[in-house]
Amino acid sequence: MSQSESAEPTAPHLLLEPFRLTPQLTLPNRILMAPMTRCMASDDLVPVDASVDYYARRADAGLLITEATIISPMGQGYPLTPGLYSDAQVEGWRAVTDKVHAAGGRIFVQLWHVGRVSHPTFLNGELPLAPSAVKLDGRVPRTDFEYGTPRALNPDEISGVIDEWEHAAHCALAAGFDGIELHGANGYLIDQFLHWHTNRRTDLWGGDPERMIRFAIEVVDRVIGVVGNQKVAIRLSPGAHYNQTADPRDADVYRLLLSELEARKLAYAHVGIFDDSMEFDVLGGRVSDFMRRHYSGILVGNGSYSPELAAVAIADNRFDLVSVGRPFIANPDLIARVRTGSQLEIYDEAMLAKLDE
Ligand code: FNR
Repeated sequence: MSQSESAEPTAPHLLLEPFRLTPQLTLPNRILMAPMTRCMASDDLVPVDASVDYYARRADAGLLITEATIISPMGQGYPLTPGLYSDAQVEGWRAVTDKVHAAGGRIFVQLWHVGRVSHPTFLNGELPLAPSAVKLDGRVPRTDFEYGTPRALNPDEISGVIDEWEHAAHCALAAGFDGIELHGANGYLIDQFLHWHTNRRTDLWGGDPERMIRFAIEVVDRVIGVVGNQKVAIRLSPGAHYNQTADPRDADVYRLLLSELEARKLAYAHVGIFDDSMEFDVLGGRVSDFMRRHYSGILVGNGSYSPELAAVAIADNRFDLVSVGRPFIANPDLIARVRTGSQLEIYDEAMLAKLDE
């Protein structure tokens, strides 16, 4: 049973209170729109007109986080996911941020490199790149393409990829975003460096927790150098629940990472999980509780939360803000519905076929 089905109704007024995220940015409420890939960019991986309206319609969210947006062509792993490295993409995203701001909203871009979670068909025939040549089992969703064994990045290429994150951060500023969320979750490139299963390196980038967190921290620091720490956030999946295999040693890596991130005073850290009622032995329970224990900055909870359950979790100080994904697709007017206590439409995967709802 999902958490929302077992919810005890509670007044969600706490969710509608303003929240000071940083000295420069106060959110009108505590409900964020979670990042959600829609695979509907143009052939040049530029957001389309329907994307502009899709985000603007949800501008009353406390904060919008865009669908994951690739930092370079080698970062792609799904069809028609938008990028943020070319002039055309900056212009396309500028149309989104302008309309969201005109509607009174705030928007962070989620920056992304999929690493091994890709296929040569998206990469001009090249093999996907990863910390180590560790095969990923399974198929690219909604296609017949089987994942395979990626090519391990050499140290010069790792520096090059970090440069790409920095370039995308410059593009994010030019496109008018209010901040950047680094996609460090769900088994993609940053996450691949952070887990023992996918990081088998014995050089400066792997072999012990200090070296395994180095890639994430260097990306964070380079992006901070462009936009400042208060405009940088990160999403993490210590539970290894998706595109990843858990190892009992992972928890030490994340404890160290979270303490390093805490010192940088980021805008927030964001839990990446589909259902936060899942418990992980290696983490001693839920991902959100693990992150709360080891990170004292602002924490965004996520994972099958109804407004009622989220209000309880925030009242219990389990996290500070909540991000909501699927219910925001089903209910563009989610904030208004929470305010008036109206029933939410139930999400259905068929809703992914269109952006114009
Ligand atoms: C996602 N999710 C996701 N997460 C992320 O960090 N970047 C992304 O681009 C995507 N893309 C995506 C697409 C679709 C269609 C879904 C349903 C989900 C995960 C999402 O942000 C969220 O963690 C989960 O949906 C769980 O939250 P909800 O939906 O239960 O509120």
